[in-house]
Parts: sequence; C-alpha cells; structure tokens
Amino acid sequence: MSKKKPLVVVTRKLPAVVETRMRELFDARLNIDDKPMSQAALIEAVKTADVLVPTVTDRIDATTIAEAGEQLKLIANFGNGVDNIDVASAVQRGITVTNTPGVLTDDTADMTMALILAVARRIAEGSRVIPEDEWAGWSPTWMLGRRITGKRLGIVGMGRIGQALAKRAAAFGLSIHYHNRRRVDARIEEKLGATYWDSLDQMLARMDIVSVNCPHTPATYHLLSARRLKLMKPDAILVNTARGEIVDETALARMLEAGELAGAGLDVFEQEPAINPRLLRLARQHKVVVLPHLGSATHEGRAEMGEKVIVNIKTFMDGHKPPDRVLPSML
Ligand code: 8YV
Repeated sequence: MSKKKPLVVVTRKLPAVVETRMRELFDARLNIDDKPMSQAALIEAVKTADVLVPTVTDRIDATTIAEAGEQLKLIANFGNGVDNIDVASAVQRGITVTNTPGVLTDDTADMTMALILAVARRIAEGSRVIPEDEWAGWSPTWMLGRRITGKRLGIVGMGRIGQALAKRAAAFGLSIHYHNRRRVDARIEEKLGATYWDSLDQMLARMDIVSVNCPHTPATYHLLSARRLKLMKPDAILVNTARGEIVDETALARMLEAGELAGAGLDVFEQEPAINPRLLRLARQHKVVVLPHLGSATHEGRAEMGEKVIVNIKTFMDGHKPPDRVLPSML
C-alpha cells in the first residue's frame, strides 16, 4: 500500500516548474489565481494542512498558530526572511519552520547595488526624461549625480547578502565598512577589505552610503531610528533591500523632505503593500527611488527558492532534519 501523500497548502502562485513538482510529490493545494489569502483562509489552512508554504505576504502569527490542527508539522516558508511567522510559537507547538537561504543572495545584492547606482546617478529620474518628451538637449551642468568610486559604504548586517554586496561594491571602488551583531571571521574581513564598527552610531556618522542588509527581528525593529538617521551626513544616501520595519520610515521621510539626507533607495516598506504617503510624494519629486519589493524577483531565484521548499518538505517527510530549519535562537 502506498503512503498517503502529505497535504501541502501553498498560499501563493509559484513558478510552474515548482508547482508541477509539488503536485507530483505531495497532495498540493495550489493557489492558481494568486489571490492573497485572508487571515480566515490562513486559519482554515493551518487547521487542515500537514505542511503550510507561506510567503512574505502571509501573517502566520501566534493567534493563527494557536488554531493549527495536530496534523500541522511543518511551515516551509517560501522566502529567506521569517518575520512573517511567529517562529517561537510554532516551535513551542512542535511545528518545524524552514526558510530558503542562499539562493536569493546574489539577486538581492545585485538589486542593492542597482539602487545605490540609481540614487547616486539619478537613473530612475533620468530614465523618464526622454519617454516624457522633456529632453531639451545635453548640458554640462544638468542632472548631475554623485560619484560612487572612492566613497564609503556602511553595511548594516554582514550576513550572506551583506557580504555579496561588499564584493560588488568593492569592485565599484567603494571602501567597505560594516556593523554586525558579531564581527565576521578575520579572513572574510580581509578578503572583503572590510572595516568593522562595533558602534553602529559611529559608523553611520561617517558613511557616504548606508545599506540595510540585516534580518527584521524584534531586536532590529527601527534599528535605524530617528535618532540614528540624524547621525548620518546630510549628503549621504540610504538604501534598504531588507525589511521596511528596520528603518523608521516617517523619520526618514521627514529628513528627505527637509534636505537632511541626499537621497534614499527603498525596495521594502513598513506597511507593504501600502506606501507611506510622504514617501510617495518624495518619490514623485525624485527624492527617493522606490521599488516594489523586487530584491529576489528573478526567474532563476524564484525557481531555486521553490526547489529549496520542496527539499525541505521532502526531507522532513522522510523523517530527517530539513536542511533549512529555523530555530528561535537563530533570530
Ligand atoms: C521574497 C524576501 O520576495 O526572501 C525574502 O526574505 O524578502 C523576498 O526576497 C519573499 O520573502 C518571498 O516570500
């Protein structure tokens, strides 16, 4: 007799190659229409599923987890960040949580570099001029941006993505500085030519460009607070491709409005998909470049994220430790 396949509820539409493989391996309940699930639908899902595959758009909080049926044993997140899941509540109920690290590192680092260049060299603003029929011709003093070669980049969070960004940025001639919970291995520091700052405040005050690359946890919520943002130089640029919640968005908007910061590039927001109206106004005035959470949005990356989810589920169902288990102690 063949073993019953686990019921795997997938909350959003995934690449076809991922969904097809999930159908072959599991009793996969797919979301073909890609309509985000309501909180009630998520609760219904945890009551029946053996495995839940959520994304960043699903809030799997303590209340939702409390409704989980006995059969729910695994939450296999389609995504690296797990701030959408109350990991401690899940683990307390004997539910394993996994994520998809590694496969979106390069794509997210590329997008961070793209935002640094877009803000410094006014790429987003400049790209609108010709389609909108506003180009009167070249002029030596028009649309000047800032050179990035020779400037200092401060990376907040030197994990996989922070290190991948450091490599790229060094190739662009930026000098690399970082702040991290733990200082990274001396060999990595040497390879990246990175200068460590144990004081985030001290680093912020000296950088030309600051990039946020740490996870969002209770400890990093508003890590870049109004007070810390004020420490930055008025001609500095801030880039965030991690999570909106790490930066006090209202304080950032206020500083950009007042010209207390040269610019910002944001791929993530505090209340996604809602955008702070002040940031929206600033974007229309070209004082901030905003992208709709595109950090890992490549065909290759999304397929590899799906493959990781499948390997995590399959390994777990076969009775082994899944490769990408997330424990509360890691957060
Ligand atoms: C994904 C991300 O878009 O993996 C992450 O942490 O922020 C993104 O790259 C999203 O998480 C998918 O759920």
